[in-house]
Amino acid sequence: MIARILILLSGVLILASCQSDSTRRNTADAQIEKRIDELISRMTVEEKIGQTNQLTVYGTTEELCEKIRNGEIGSLLNVVDPADINTLQRAAVEQSRLGIPLLIARDVIHGFRTVFPIPLGQAATFDPALVEQGARIAAIEASAAGIRWTFSPMLDISRDPRWGRIAESAGEDPCLTSAMGAAMVKGYQGEGADDPTSVAACAKHFVGYGASESGRDYNSTNLTERQLRNVYLPPFEQAVRSGAMTLMTSFNDNDGIPSTGNRFLLEEVLRNEWGFDGMVVTDWNSAGEMVSHGFAADTKDAAMKAINAGVDMDMMSHVFSLHLEDLIDEGTVDEQRLDEAVRNILRVKFRLGLFENPYIDTARIARVTYAPEHLEAARRTAEESAVLLRNEGGILPLDASALRSVLVAGPMADAPAEQLGTWTFDGEPDHTVTPLAAIRAAYGDRLRIGYNPVAAYSREKVTAAKLAAFTAQAASYDAILLFVGEEAILSGEAHCLADLNLQGSQSELIAAARRSGKPVVTVVMAGRPLTIARDLANTDALLYSFHPGTMGGPALIDLIFGNAVPSGKLPVTFPVATGQIPIYYARNMTGRPAAGNELLLDEIPVGAGQTSLGCTSYHLDAGFGPLFPFGFGLSYTTFKYADLQLDKETYLPTETIRASCRLTNTGKRTATEVVQLYVRDRVGSTVRPVKELKAFDRITLEPGQSRTVEFELPAEDLAFWGLDMQKRVEPGTFDLWIAGDSQSGNSVTFTIN
Ligand code: GLC
Repeated sequence: MIARILILLSGVLILASCQSDSTRRNTADAQIEKRIDELISRMTVEEKIGQTNQLTVYGTTEELCEKIRNGEIGSLLNVVDPADINTLQRAAVEQSRLGIPLLIARDVIHGFRTVFPIPLGQAATFDPALVEQGARIAAIEASAAGIRWTFSPMLDISRDPRWGRIAESAGEDPCLTSAMGAAMVKGYQGEGADDPTSVAACAKHFVGYGASESGRDYNSTNLTERQLRNVYLPPFEQAVRSGAMTLMTSFNDNDGIPSTGNRFLLEEVLRNEWGFDGMVVTDWNSAGEMVSHGFAADTKDAAMKAINAGVDMDMMSHVFSLHLEDLIDEGTVDEQRLDEAVRNILRVKFRLGLFENPYIDTARIARVTYAPEHLEAARRTAEESAVLLRNEGGILPLDASALRSVLVAGPMADAPAEQLGTWTFDGEPDHTVTPLAAIRAAYGDRLRIGYNPVAAYSREKVTAAKLAAFTAQAASYDAILLFVGEEAILSGEAHCLADLNLQGSQSELIAAARRSGKPVVTVVMAGRPLTIARDLANTDALLYSFHPGTMGGPALIDLIFGNAVPSGKLPVTFPVATGQIPIYYARNMTGRPAAGNELLLDEIPVGAGQTSLGCTSYHLDAGFGPLFPFGFGLSYTTFKYADLQLDKETYLPTETIRASCRLTNTGKRTATEVVQLYVRDRVGSTVRPVKELKAFDRITLEPGQSRTVEFELPAEDLAFWGLDMQKRVEPGTFDLWIAGDSQSGNSVTFTIN
């Protein structure tokens, strides 16, 4: 056995472990650590390497069982049949030398069988308790299939709707994303990880992936450490603090370093600063792809860089199983690093109770999937996730008693698979309740309901004749309900768009409906913000539903006919035009902020002399502001914010700011408002955003009812990583808003000494 020595490779410091025993003991059950120590002491290097190897199910069950019996596999993904899982698990537990159970994983991103709105839609609820319930239900259904690890929550801050994966995110804001991520972690992992319905969460993609240049997936990112620390890392830190058992490295190279080989992230930040004692898995083949990045010379170099950066498990690149033994024999990788990786993996398996309960009761899945309470939770989430963006003349809610007929139209009106959205591997479209099915069930006995998709799918281009015929048909109905948007496949991983206008002839379809002269209600079902500015003039009302899942139909019909009131708020900014991207509310002021009165393209005099026009920061053809700001959403009532006040004018960094305002429902319907608290640090050692969300709450009021809404904001929540790259609350003057979105409301000022 070649003497193993610690070798200092230039630029790659190989550390056996950055977790002191005491940290491990403090954060993990000492009993589990003892069992890990005992098991590791009996493992061969080959068996240790086997634990670091994650494969997707392939070939025949017998082929897989053979590799499992030999101790070559630690985890499998994409097997969802409980009987198959038991067979594979038996090979590990009863037929391998050490009987270490497999960790069975799956992308359960927004539900398993019962599909909830895509995470971007869930974020629009601003309702962490509801999102936690959804994750709990996903865990109950997935664990019934034998899945005990999900690759969720996705916590990538996403400020670029060209990027298809914005659908899986909680949007652009670190505070909202942190709240949603913590809720999902708690929901997935439940009361105790060893509960058979508990599923290990996986905070992904660590880190910065949402800033992929040009919104093109897998592209490079160029975030400074300060941006990482102030914007992109906080949701992951919150997930770790919430007990997330695993993390996944991201595909992107940031500042030239692929995350899968970034020791600063995986050891310095994750282990040393945050004390994370769970397991780090790579994204699919991202270890091997470091060769393509040009960061590793070959797969052996990639294996060395991944394991030494702090990766514990390799998803599907095989580099660990191919090269780790040689790397250890050569002394390029210290076996202690391998031991640490195996400890982290075994710790997850012990915590999940897999050694005690490795098998699944195959009868359980039939009992739990599509349970009525699951479907109701999915419906309620779809209802709360819908955002009312336009309601001219208060056309919504429709009064069914005042109507005789309604024409339901558009390619998304009865599209059960598209409605489920991206990353829906196990949702079953035949369980989807579409808007067409929902309106027929609820109003078929009293309304003449017509149906015309006009286009078979969102991208289909239809003829002018077909649109004209639709206009004529629509004129014979009392109201038109249009359902447009995106097919699910146009959203999600690797599905990025350079143009965000509605696909196909959908904008023409909305215009054709307008020409009927009848009231038009448009529902957009999509996986991202779309540039709908040109469509707004052609619809009286517009409801935005981020792919709402299994129960999207009943939720939307309830909202349209007033059985429910919209409360959703935008988790991401809607641009006027794609060219404005990236556009987000927590922007910097710049030295020349737009005044809002700048000349736009058509206002510039012909032959104008060479000037710098407004001398401010804006686009001649799109202006400065968004179409709809972060946090925006209308209701069927109106709310008044008044009496904004603080308990003091000056605070110490260790104190708590108590802010309150008087919220009144000034309309005619009981409704829920998402009240948002924003802060601005006017002057910092580095430039600070014009606003940052720091808290929010859902407040339900009856017509005429008022309530004093109170927030307690620890001053330490205003800390940021400043010029000296230390996180601290800097003294100075701050503005504070409590409002219904990121652009409205009055502010009060306070100072921190
Ligand atoms: C994919 C995704 C990741 C997912 C993994 C397993 O490429 O990037 O989010 O969890 O592979 O399917």
